[in-house]
Amino acid sequence: MAGDCGKWVVMVTAQTPMNMSVIKYWGKRDETLILPVNDSISITLDPDHLCTTTTVAVSPNFDRDRMWLNGKEISLSGGRYRNYLREIRSRATDVDDDENGIKIAEKDWEKLHLHIASYNNFPTAAGLASSAAGFACLVFALAKLMNLKEDRSKLSTIARQGSGSACRSLHGGFVKWIMGKDEDGKDSLAVQLADEKHWDDLVIIIAVVSSRQKETSSSTGMRETVETSLLLKHRAKEVVPKRIPQMEEAIKNHDFASFAQLTCAESNQFHAVCLDTSPPIFYMNDTSRRIISVVENWNRYEGTPQVAYTFDAGPNAVLFARNRKTAILLLQRLLFYFPPDSFFGLNSYIVGDKSILKDAG
Ligand code: DP6
Repeated sequence: MAGDCGKWVVMVTAQTPMNMSVIKYWGKRDETLILPVNDSISITLDPDHLCTTTTVAVSPNFDRDRMWLNGKEISLSGGRYRNYLREIRSRATDVDDDENGIKIAEKDWEKLHLHIASYNNFPTAAGLASSAAGFACLVFALAKLMNLKEDRSKLSTIARQGSGSACRSLHGGFVKWIMGKDEDGKDSLAVQLADEKHWDDLVIIIAVVSSRQKETSSSTGMRETVETSLLLKHRAKEVVPKRIPQMEEAIKNHDFASFAQLTCAESNQFHAVCLDTSPPIFYMNDTSRRIISVVENWNRYEGTPQVAYTFDAGPNAVLFARNRKTAILLLQRLLFYFPPDSFFGLNSYIVGDKSILKDAG
């Protein structure tokens, strides 16, 4: 380490969007390495509306690793953060910043401490994949700071160890998380199926039913499902392996009818698996179920799908409209059926396109 020791701070800021799964990840075969029981597919969303911004800083003045989430300090002593930071430190390389006269040697990263400040511009832990954007952003920012040489798919194996779905936010556009076969998890990584320019017509509308934190975290819910649900075993072995190639085809061909049919079926099976867990887990509420009815009735009336829905571990609806014209009609219908301030009213709407990672470093 060189430079004016004790006086410098090196900082990197990155911004990463959340991703929304259309083939769901639910269930781990290895809890420590976060290895899933099936492949999953997601769409990375527009970072202007839904993203995490993270600044990472290193300085010899810092006496321990610290992290702030939305301005509040959080503990880094949990296993996930420990494994995650250890994994990243082990891959750090020399940093040579001639302009500012700072050199950090590979071996020094073990001794230097980090300060991390992360901010979500959407509800945290309300089933809007906040941890996905958060861990993806952290790995992206730290990779820049520590001069990691890995490509995005390799980085996704680190992000995965913070939160499984985070690995998919390392890429923009349409992304597949391959479950992998290796015990060490090296082949459990995210690959891009198509970039953010592909299927431009698709519009995503998020109807925020509630921004309250969910009662059962994804990790706890998944563990209980793996332990108790027979439906999950059937799903992982028989259902998802068939749906993955079908979804890849639908995406490749801009085939909205197949995309919608698979997306809705996936969401419904995921929530059925939650219900098949003992004790049962309920993530959707009455408003969520009413949204499903509105979409299902509309699609049936038109004879061909106009809109698809998916719900993660929370009551908020993520809706995919087949094009911009349909998106406007969808917003009108949502306002009509779920007016704000009414009993079933929605809190807000977020409208966005697919998009790519922005590197603000
Ligand atoms: C319902 O990635 O939050 O959103 O790996 O335990 O951190 P952990 O879980 P997490 O689970 C997300 C589950 C889901 C479906 C999905 O994103 O595929």
